[in-house]
This record gives sequence, C-alpha cells and structure tokens, in this order.
Amino acid sequence: MKKMENKIAVITGATSGIGKAAAREFIDHGAKVVFTGRYENTVQETQSELGEQAFGIVSDAGKMTDLLMLREKLVSVVPHVDILYVNAGIGKYAPVEQVSEEHFNELFDIIVKGTLFTVQQLLPLMRNGSVIILNTSIVTEIGMPNSSVYSAAKAAVQSFVKTFAAELAAKGIRVNAVSPGPIQTNYFERSNLTAAQMENFTRSFAPQIPLARFGKPEEVARVIRFLASDDASFMHGSEVFVDGGFPKVKVG
Ligand SMILES: NC(=O)c1ccc[n+]([C@@H]2O[C@H](COP(=O)([O-])OP(=O)(O)OC[C@H]3O[C@@H](n4cnc5c(N)ncnc54)[C@H](OP(=O)(O)O)[C@@H]3O)[C@@H](O)[C@H]2O)c1
Repeated sequence: MKKMENKIAVITGATSGIGKAAAREFIDHGAKVVFTGRYENTVQETQSELGEQAFGIVSDAGKMTDLLMLREKLVSVVPHVDILYVNAGIGKYAPVEQVSEEHFNELFDIIVKGTLFTVQQLLPLMRNGSVIILNTSIVTEIGMPNSSVYSAAKAAVQSFVKTFAAELAAKGIRVNAVSPGPIQTNYFERSNLTAAQMENFTRSFAPQIPLARFGKPEEVARVIRFLASDDASFMHGSEVFVDGGFPKVKVG
C-alpha cells in the first residue's frame, strides 16, 4: 500500500511550480488532491495533466469572497481534509521608496489574508491527525533589497506557523512550514522583475548558494510530502528550509 493512500490533500495554487510538483508527489504516493488556481483554463489544464486523482477548483486566495466559498466548494468533492498545503503566492519587488498601496495590498491579500482565512475556513473539515503545511521563504532570514513587502508578508506566515501550532495541538493537527530558497518555477517570470533585473538577480544570487544552483520544485515537493506524512509525526511548529544551504552556509 502506498504511504498516502486514502489521504485527501488540498493544495492552494497548484497550477504551476512547487504547488503542482507537490500535487504530483502526493498523487504518486496514493493521495487524492484537490487544488486551486485563479483561472478556469489553467485549473482545467492542470486537472487533465494530473489525472483522475486530482480535482481543480477556481478560487482566488486574495479574494475574501472566494476564501469564504472554498469550504462549500470542497465539501461537494471530498468529505474531509487530511493534508492542507497553503502554497498560493506571487512575488512583487520594489525599493521602499517605490512601494505602492496596490503592491502592498496585493501581496498581503494573497499571502497573509489568504493563508489565514484558508486555514480558518478549512479547519472544520480537518480531523485529529490532520496536517497543515504553510509556505514561507528564505527571504525572511536575510535583508534582500526590493523585498520589504514580500518578506514581511512571508514573515507573517512564519508567525502563523507558531501560533497555529499552539492553537491546533489540542485538536491533534500538526502545523509546519516549508521555506524554499530560490526555486526554478514560473514565479520569477510572473513577478514584476524585468528580464534584465532577473538576469542580474540570478547572476548575483547563484554564487551565494553553496550547492551552486537554483532548486527544482520536485525537491521542495519531496520535503512537503515528508512533512505531510507520519514520518514527521513529532514535527510541529517547525520551518524546514529547502535552500541549497543559502544563506546559512558560506563557501569559499
Ligand atoms: N520560486 C521560488 O524561488 C520561491 C521561493 C520561496 C517561496 N516561494 C513561494 O512558493 C509558492 C509557490 O511559488 P512557485 O515558485 O511555485 O511559483 P509559481 O510557479 O508562479 O506558482 C504559483 C502558484 O500560485 C498560484 N496563485 C498565485 N496567486 C494565487 C491566488 N491569488 N489564488 C490562488 N492561486 C494563486 C498560481 O496559480 P494561478 O496563477 O494559475 O492562479 C500558481 O499555481 C509561493 O507562495 C511563493 O511565494 C517561491
């Protein structure tokens, strides 16, 4: 029997990148996956790609109306949730002088409000023994130019990990986070970085990664699967870094 057989997982933002890799990883290990994305077409394409163990729901993690409808949409598909991986997120970068209210609201709506209300709304579907995994980022560990808003939003999620872990221990729900370093996904292309800024970012960032490369989404997905499994049964309130050693390890 596969390790995740009979498990029902929900992943927000799984039409691409780390979320999609996590969906594949869970399905390969026997789970049924319900995932979200903002757009009908990408949700449908992803559902076809992932096969019959996956079910896509159009839901925007930055919109309160969608967050409040998510549980109702879910219960029409699954009876409960064993694993919740809150992954939906975008990147947007600007020096503090140029941060607009729109930039601030967009990131805080999706990352902070989206994470809190996704957890709040799906908790009634989670039983003793269920697992929540949040997505943070290594940017919270360093001072990275242009990332004041993104980093603050992910730091709020870092804080949720500990508070949720304290609140949900009594319900037998484990809460942990995965903190990716730079991972090769559509994330950077979809951010507001220009091609030239992106090239400059990659050139200056890559040499600081001891493993000398960006990570692959599958490498993060395997850690998420571990956190979701009983193999991590004594992990609670932790944040696991998947970052090739950046920024803790100095080379050269
Ligand atoms: N890549 C990195 O280097 C890195 C590093 C640290 C942390 N992270 C975090 O990892 C998570 C996944 O990012 P990724 O690298 O896999 O990027 P990605 O390839 O761009 O995937 C992001 C996913 O989130 C979904 N999404 C974005 N906004 C959403 C919203 N408002 N509602 C619902 N879904 C939404 C996207 O779906 P649609 O666009 O189809 O809606 C997509 O499926 C994000 O939280 C990101 O901040 C990434």
